[in-house]
Amino acid sequence: MADFGYDVSNYTDVDPIFGTLEDMETLVVEAHKRSIKVLLDFVPNHTSDEHPWFIESRSSPTSDKRDWYIWRDPAADGGPPNNWLSVFGGSAWQLDEPSGQYYLHSFLAKQPDLNWDNDTVRKAMKSAMRFWLDRGVDGFRVDAVDWMSKDAAFRDDPVDENAIDAVPGYDHSSLRHVYSRDGPHLFERLNEMTSVLEEYKDRFMITEAHPETDDKITGYLRYYQGVNPHLSAPFNFQGIYLPWKAPEFGRFIDTFQAAMKPGYVPIYTVGNHDESRIATRVGNAAARTAAVMLLTLPGMAFIYYGEELGMHDVDISQDKIRDPFAGKQNGRDPERTPMQWSNAPQAGFTTATPWLPVSDDYKRINVHTEAADPSSSLNLYKRLLRFRNQSRVLRYGSYKPVTKYEHVLSYERRLGNEILLVLLNFSDLNQKLVINDLEGTIVVSTHFEDEGATVNGHLTLQANEGVVIQVSHD
Ligand code: NOJ
Repeated sequence: MADFGYDVSNYTDVDPIFGTLEDMETLVVEAHKRSIKVLLDFVPNHTSDEHPWFIESRSSPTSDKRDWYIWRDPAADGGPPNNWLSVFGGSAWQLDEPSGQYYLHSFLAKQPDLNWDNDTVRKAMKSAMRFWLDRGVDGFRVDAVDWMSKDAAFRDDPVDENAIDAVPGYDHSSLRHVYSRDGPHLFERLNEMTSVLEEYKDRFMITEAHPETDDKITGYLRYYQGVNPHLSAPFNFQGIYLPWKAPEFGRFIDTFQAAMKPGYVPIYTVGNHDESRIATRVGNAAARTAAVMLLTLPGMAFIYYGEELGMHDVDISQDKIRDPFAGKQNGRDPERTPMQWSNAPQAGFTTATPWLPVSDDYKRINVHTEAADPSSSLNLYKRLLRFRNQSRVLRYGSYKPVTKYEHVLSYERRLGNEILLVLLNFSDLNQKLVINDLEGTIVVSTHFEDEGATVNGHLTLQANEGVVIQVSHD
């Protein structure tokens, strides 16, 4: 738990702090009974230094498993073999004193990188995938895939001249990672993984890829082109990184959608366990607008737990910080606090003391309280999901950008002669829109009271209002 589960010491069991393998099997069976699919987070690039494979690898330079990890002699000056940096800061190489060699860790020193060039490693990782697929999981979210292939010559990464705020030789962002990641065998390896999925029926994986290309969209597209898109698709993280401005989002979504070929599944998201929460980034009201966007775009939508309630980042005092990445910033703990179930102590999450403190807004922002309030964020998500589940247009319809406004993002979803128009007010002011020929009904709105209203030629969106309009046709 040095990196909260991303340091695996056994790929084929459940950590007792979470339960047992039987619990996991029950979870999958019960989820399937309710038509819920289960994806596991799979970590192929590194293990824990406590994994028996690494313990054996480290035990001696002549160990059978030495080559399962990436070991190198020191540079001529006795320092690390090259200048590669850990994502969490500092050299990516750790000296192992007894052998005098360094091992590579693209993340923490407690997370040594596996050597994917080694056939036996690849075999072992594929059987770990099968272990879970045999137990019925529907696929994987695949961690940190870019690191699965590195430069064969281990050349130094060049300095990033634009990274002016980064501490040279320490901050990961001080270098351009052209050699330490995204190597020549990356897609070959992802294809090996999808070939395992193909041994089963209806399995899928979503890759965590962070392209370093200036144009992120081209970067994401490589993952559709390089791997069978019916079996794998990359997260598109721009929903997290872009500034909350209608033209910025419009440009990104329009370009991305235009590049989607038949069979490509866009994977949109506005939050995850590594980034500040959407309600904190853009504010409570705009976070609801983002929900309308997320759940009316084509493809798969990923909702981070608590987003549906409007949960915020929590300030974590120094003595309570758990995240090893909490060097300069507050780390990632603020977005990882306990789920807010009710207004009971500890938000109903536990009767024990949780690892991280519960947000002090839990009396208001929790499942129990919000369920009873039709205007709550939770009920907005429920209406959106209910609508999305029964809407063939949202599931199969095309995406088309419509009129550009400065503060309103607008697009159309269409299937046959059925049309949905989505209008999202990104500003804190009302927006009066005149849309000639538009006749329709608001089927979902961030503002509950507007649902059911008919629209005829014009409408005024309230501040941060997002609406889905069922367009009338004759
Ligand atoms: C990406 C995960 O999302 C993050 O939480 C983790 O620290 C790194 N990969 C390393 O596995």
